[in-house]
Amino acid sequence: MALLIKNGEVITADSRFHADIFAEGETITRIGKNLVVHPDAEVIDATGKLVFPGFIDPHVHIYLPFMSTFAKDTHETGSIAALIGGTTTYVEMCCPNRNEDALEGYHLWKSKAEGHSACDYTFHMSVTKYIGETEKHLREIVADGITSFKIFLAYQNFFGVEDREMYQTMTLAKKLGVIVTAHCENAELVGKLQQRLLAEGKTGPEWHEPSRPESVEAEGTGRFATFLENTGAAGYVVHLSCEPALKAAMAAKSRGVRLWIESVIPHFLLDKTYAERNGVEGMKHVMSPPLRDKRNQKALWNALATGFIDTVGTDHCPFDTAQKLMGNDAFTNIPNGIPAIEDRVNLLYTYGVKRGPLDLHRFVEAASTKAAKIFGLFPRKGTIAVGCDADMVVYDPHAKGVITAAKQHVNNDYNGFEGMEIDGRPTEVTVRGKVQVREGKFVGERGRGQLLKREPTHF
Ligand code: URP
Ligand code: ZN
Ligand code: ZN
Repeated sequence: MALLIKNGEVITADSRFHADIFAEGETITRIGKNLVVHPDAEVIDATGKLVFPGFIDPHVHIYLPFMSTFAKDTHETGSIAALIGGTTTYVEMCCPNRNEDALEGYHLWKSKAEGHSACDYTFHMSVTKYIGETEKHLREIVADGITSFKIFLAYQNFFGVEDREMYQTMTLAKKLGVIVTAHCENAELVGKLQQRLLAEGKTGPEWHEPSRPESVEAEGTGRFATFLENTGAAGYVVHLSCEPALKAAMAAKSRGVRLWIESVIPHFLLDKTYAERNGVEGMKHVMSPPLRDKRNQKALWNALATGFIDTVGTDHCPFDTAQKLMGNDAFTNIPNGIPAIEDRVNLLYTYGVKRGPLDLHRFVEAASTKAAKIFGLFPRKGTIAVGCDADMVVYDPHAKGVITAAKQHVNNDYNGFEGMEIDGRPTEVTVRGKVQVREGKFVGERGRGQLLKREPTHF
């Protein structure tokens, strides 16, 4: 298998040049001008196009039993949607709940992906309780190449951990060279505010945000950082949504806490008025942390452009209209989640680069390179250089389109970004040297994705 991508403009996190790229087998072997290669090589002409490293989504849910139902995608549907949108690797949250066994959960999540995903993948291993056998289980999972944990400070009695368990998780993570990722909201306060609002007859989706206000997320973020500071572990805040939480995280960074920040595409582009829409239209826009007051978006974009926010993920989590309606009588029963795996790159390019404050290098860094570095995938993934996996996105920067559920590949009957314009899109997408998307269509091999095993990093 040999592949030549010729005449494109290559963009990485720190360079920009016109060149041909040649891959033999799964690896990039040559980069240069006017490469002469074997006549049997498959050729993609990238004239007038940008060539990016394959994009990495550091936060997705594919298989997810949650809130009395299951997220809608499978690895077949989710990975094809990801690839069409330019994402060649995703990191799925492996989420057994508090009543389940961590090791069994890990094997279950692995079995759902293996032979089913068309793109490469790895997991963040959720630690949802810390009991006698937890350390043994986690050591085994880390030895299998999963070098990031996930904890939830929210979702009390289901995924959520107590402070004692957060401390134990971080202590082990520090020993093993594992980074701890965290959903940062104060579970106790969320529970109390939910009860109060429901008792007042406030049951619609517009009350979801007031039940998890910005201060509740800022508290969770600050507490997570304080625990990192005092255990010496490295951490990563997932889906940070608002300015007060950002300030808490930045204050920790400035104290020297080893902390990285992820925000997700819905929080940059959608605001709480979407969840205030009537009935099920509002429910479609319920996620946690919630969509916020629009004023937060400027702070997020500025922090992203200047690198204080490290990565942009999706928190892809599709529930369809019927599932959202489970929360018709009480917003606390609306399955939380907004799908975005297919649209993240195009939305970030359109509203970040074309119409916003990002330069192309920061775009590549935030949507690919930085996640590869933080999660132990670099330089195999996250850049274009000789020796890297041949994961590439040939991108048409002049394509115009409008997002609509009618054309999406995500297994869902709506799209939270319906009607938004996009100013670019991938034409060809390769994974380890194989063309998986051509002219915007999936033409590849289903189930070809590999579980990416990672080494511990002693940050
Ligand atoms: O609303 C969300 N975010 N759903 C997925 C679960 C989580 O908290 O990441
Ligand atoms: Zn979360
Ligand atoms: Zn999530």
